[in-house]
Amino acid sequence: MSTKKILLSGIKPTGQAHIGNYFGMLKQCVDFQDEYDSFIFIPDYHALTSVQSGQEMAENSLNLAIDLMAIGVDPNKSVMFKQSDVPEVTELCWIFNCLTTMPYLMRAHAFKDSEAKNKEINVGVFDYPILMAADILIQDADLVPVGQDQQQHVEYARDTAEKFNRIYGETFKLPKAYIKEDVAVVPGIDGHKMSKSHGNHIPLFAEDDQIRALCMKIVTDSKTPAEPKDTSTDNIFALHKLFSTDQLADIEKRYCEGGMGYKESKELLAENIIKFIAPLREKRKSIAADLAKVKAILAEGGEKARARAITKMKEVKEKTGLSF
Ligand code: ADP
Ligand code: TRP
Repeated sequence: MSTKKILLSGIKPTGQAHIGNYFGMLKQCVDFQDEYDSFIFIPDYHALTSVQSGQEMAENSLNLAIDLMAIGVDPNKSVMFKQSDVPEVTELCWIFNCLTTMPYLMRAHAFKDSEAKNKEINVGVFDYPILMAADILIQDADLVPVGQDQQQHVEYARDTAEKFNRIYGETFKLPKAYIKEDVAVVPGIDGHKMSKSHGNHIPLFAEDDQIRALCMKIVTDSKTPAEPKDTSTDNIFALHKLFSTDQLADIEKRYCEGGMGYKESKELLAENIIKFIAPLREKRKSIAADLAKVKAILAEGGEKARARAITKMKEVKEKTGLSF
């Protein structure tokens, strides 16, 4: 038995991964995979709340598995799987549902946002945090790397563990979110949180021309090249912090003194993003050339994750009196 702590995180198959996902959460999963026993998964049950085309779901999931491997998730170090290969999470979710009150779930940010926008909310969206709690708790996760927007969900998982433990006796570990402060909210090209659903994202495997075009669209104020500029509010500079680390001091100096125009700044940023993305894109292509291998890795990961979930559910069913 390994004595390492357990890391678990997931990214939904709802569209293309972007650089906000990468810096906010995916990179941490890669960086920590030697230090932790890691479980990186594709929450397809969660994605069903919004993706309702079977073909799209399957394509997104397979693409995301390729993405994960391309950025360095190593199947020899991390268990990579898709959520629906561990159906026990839905069983645990039901058990947790029976301990969860409606007003508590009505306080969830995601639910409140949907409600504020008058969206038609399915029961899956409402119950989303509890399924996520099941994902985390069924694997005994200690650490959950996520972006800022997921903090509340990890707190729901902690609360749910505490509640279950209080009622049925010590069963679940209390997980902690790992949110890296400087990348907790990576801004998109409009300065708001980068998100697939806001259409302000730079895809993680974008082509060179697409990267250049997106950088040119970054929203700025109307200062002339000669005018001094504010690094703390500029959306281009926010991305230089991620991609232009070697040149950052120089760029900052030129911003403060004046003399660097936004066009020049955008062009430099685009070339630095291309330098970062081009090798990832090549690696992705070579992984995508053997889809059978990717599917086999997911299947094998699913078996490992499921075996652990079954063991945990045995304990849960005994404690709840569902098995005797
Ligand atoms: P999106 O908002 O684009 O749909 P997801 O909800 O699929 O992204 O998020 C997957 C993971 O990436 C989550 O842990 C989330 O917190 C993180 N993440 C997403 N966007 C950002 C961002 N702009 N900055 C930091 N982390 C992010
Ligand atoms: N809710 C997460 C997101 O939208 C995805 C997710 C589902 C997850 N289950 C999880 C993340 C468990 C971490 C741990 O990004």
